[in-house]
Amino acid sequence: MKNILITGGAGFIGSHVVRHFVNKYPEYRILNLDKLTYAGNLMNLTDIENKPNYVFIKEDICNSEAIAGIFEQYEVDGVIHLAAESHVDRSIMNPMEFVQTNVVGTVSLLNVAKSYWGKRQDVLFYHVSTDEVYGSLDEGGFFYETTSYDPQSPYSASKAASDHFVRAYGNTYHIPFKLSNCSNNYGPNHFPEKLIPLFISNIMENKPLPVYGKGENVRDWLWVKDHATAIDAIFHRGRVGETYNIGGKNEWKNIDLVLLLCSIMDKKLGRPEGTSEKLIQYVTDRPGHDLRYAIDPTKLETELDWHPSVTFEQGLEETVEWYLNNKEWVDTIKSGNYLHYYEAQYGSRIEK
Ligand code: NAD
Ligand code: DAU
Repeated sequence: MKNILITGGAGFIGSHVVRHFVNKYPEYRILNLDKLTYAGNLMNLTDIENKPNYVFIKEDICNSEAIAGIFEQYEVDGVIHLAAESHVDRSIMNPMEFVQTNVVGTVSLLNVAKSYWGKRQDVLFYHVSTDEVYGSLDEGGFFYETTSYDPQSPYSASKAASDHFVRAYGNTYHIPFKLSNCSNNYGPNHFPEKLIPLFISNIMENKPLPVYGKGENVRDWLWVKDHATAIDAIFHRGRVGETYNIGGKNEWKNIDLVLLLCSIMDKKLGRPEGTSEKLIQYVTDRPGHDLRYAIDPTKLETELDWHPSVTFEQGLEETVEWYLNNKEWVDTIKSGNYLHYYEAQYGSRIEK
């Protein structure tokens, strides 16, 4: 495969995936297609934007006419689909936006691929999904690839629907596909609305840390660059028509994670131990808040010999350092006016 369309490549995970593929596979042409919503940001990719095998296209996955033109023009033979609305709290406030992008957008993209590829079997539609489609665990058990879907939030319902459509198109129209369902990612370039980057940013500004409910919910955290290597392994070596769960066996109760983060921040900022944790405030719980996620990654580990590369402590420390060294990124993102900033810094490269 030579021309790979990565959707959502200007977002958090997408930018790491794009960088990984552009640098590791100079023989591929990597097309980064992104609508640049509030979550998409070309500042995430300035280090690779002039590479000869990289093309950025500002487009909405729902615009099927434009996407069809892109398939034709670039002779797309592989898709890695990450574009989505990704924040659970936003999905609770505005579910329709999630239906539009995550469900309608995915089906629209599948339709274009179906028309352009016809019966070809040397192509691939890879959907990057979430462990939240499996619902919520209590204290025991894990999510396996065979676990029944039981999505609980508008976000996870929209991702579950898109997973079903990918499989349905594979079954009905014989589009070669692969799917992965990953646990919570963390690392550089994470939008400061999600727990870890929000709390780092709030600690830097001495603002309250709003812990939902009692802080007892459990998430299974994975270093974002390890997600990118897992996607690479699955894209190239995973079996067609299969699903792979991705996770690093790294469960943390929210409050324990927040206390660890506070302690790292105190050290990095040279503040007395215990300073940051005074900012913790317990607030009203997220409606329908899933209690626990935990991935069993045995299939990925045994079939594809993929393993995470860092411990959580290493990854979290590196993440904190990145945010401390990239305060301008955080401020620009939070100002909501990053396009203006980007153009002033790097010129008008928004549409190539
Ligand atoms: P993100 O919100 O940081 O980025 C999403 C990207 O998609 C943005 O660049 C945005 O501009 C783009 N986008 C949104 N709507 C679009 C549209 N209509 N057309 C084109 N582009 C559009 O999200 P993320 O956290 O990087 O997640 C990426 C993918 O990985 C999502 O599909 C998400 O469901 C999945 N995922 C995320 C996590 C996680 O922990 N963040 C874990 C597992 C799976
Ligand atoms: O599991 C994978 C999913 O992880 C992805 O599919 C989603 O795209 C991604 O956003 C993430 O969803 P979560 O809801 O788990 O992530 P978030 O960072 O929003 O919240 C993590 C936990 O922290 C969750 O239990 C809610 C809690 N939380 C979150 C925020 C933003 C708080 O206690 N306070 C907060 O302010």
